[in-house]
Amino acid sequence: MLRSIEWLGDRVRWINTLKLPWEEETVETTDPERVALAIERMEIRGAPAIGVAAALAVALAAARSTAGSLEELRHHLHRVVERMRRTRPTAVNLFWALKRMEAVIDAGHRDTGELREAVVREALRIYEEDIEVNRRIAEAGSKLIDDGDTVLTHCNAGALATVAIGTALGVIRAAWESGKRIRVIATETRPVLQGARLTVWELMKEGIPVKLIADTAVGYVMSRGLVSKVVVGADRIVPPGYVVNKIGTYTIAALASRHGVPFYVAVPTSTIDFDGRVEDIVIEERNPDEVRTALFRLYTTVPTVEVMNPAFDVTPPDLVDAIITELGVVARPIEVGLRELRERRLRGELVP
Ligand code: MRU
Repeated sequence: MLRSIEWLGDRVRWINTLKLPWEEETVETTDPERVALAIERMEIRGAPAIGVAAALAVALAAARSTAGSLEELRHHLHRVVERMRRTRPTAVNLFWALKRMEAVIDAGHRDTGELREAVVREALRIYEEDIEVNRRIAEAGSKLIDDGDTVLTHCNAGALATVAIGTALGVIRAAWESGKRIRVIATETRPVLQGARLTVWELMKEGIPVKLIADTAVGYVMSRGLVSKVVVGADRIVPPGYVVNKIGTYTIAALASRHGVPFYVAVPTSTIDFDGRVEDIVIEERNPDEVRTALFRLYTTVPTVEVMNPAFDVTPPDLVDAIITELGVVARPIEVGLRELRERRLRGELVP
């Protein structure tokens, strides 16, 4: 099983996704700041993966801290949490994971040793849960995929965006492993090509048939009846069902609706911001050179041109046919299903 990130006792190791598909480079560190930089540079990316990485960075800080008192250790860990919080603004999993880490930091431990252990344990719990949650999403979602389907996916919501398995690609993997003869269409996902570089790499590694298209070809392939279903991941979902995901997702959802293609979103419930409001969502604006160049190697425009580079967009609920979670499939009306999930969370049913 491909693991994008691992805890090695005193170190964290991850696959540097910036190097894929040319090179399978792994990076190891004992330094939480190096993990923060990896998230900012997108060596580690994808909503669940950045949440897990941030939690492991706090665990590293706890494991190697030389703080002599509980007060000092707590203060240090809170500073690391704050640093991790500033790495990327949109994916809610990051804030969700850090809130869990903060609850442990403030839980009233007797000494530094106990606090250190509790922090490491919680980070590992978040890590292990991610694998199990993705397995359940895959199982629930694969039931929506039929033998013979061609599934279009955008960006990379695979093992490389989680600890393992993936959300949207988990659904695709589970359908394939259950014997359904499916095909995948992956969009390139400009500007940094997560679809072309990562999704294609992951699927080809496992022999799942995949065809790559330019983002601009989505309308054409749908109009020709070449897509049976769309499955994507998300960085944040807010009531009554707004889906924040990689830029271009909204265009795909609008086209899917126009052509009667079901549009599914696969997420852990940790991606659902039950109390969030669409007006408050911060859409990350990234480096203009992502757009001006082909992966920073060659300018494809006049280098001084003004650029707009939002990393995510917002798909409205009426374009979403179902949300696939580890607790099952939320069908239309999405708003009602989300309300039920929220109540289950308040009753403490959700993981954790
Ligand atoms: O900017 P990225 O590569 O972190 O964006 C990732 C996405 O938009 C994914 O689709 C999303 O995080 C879901 S990953 C399971």
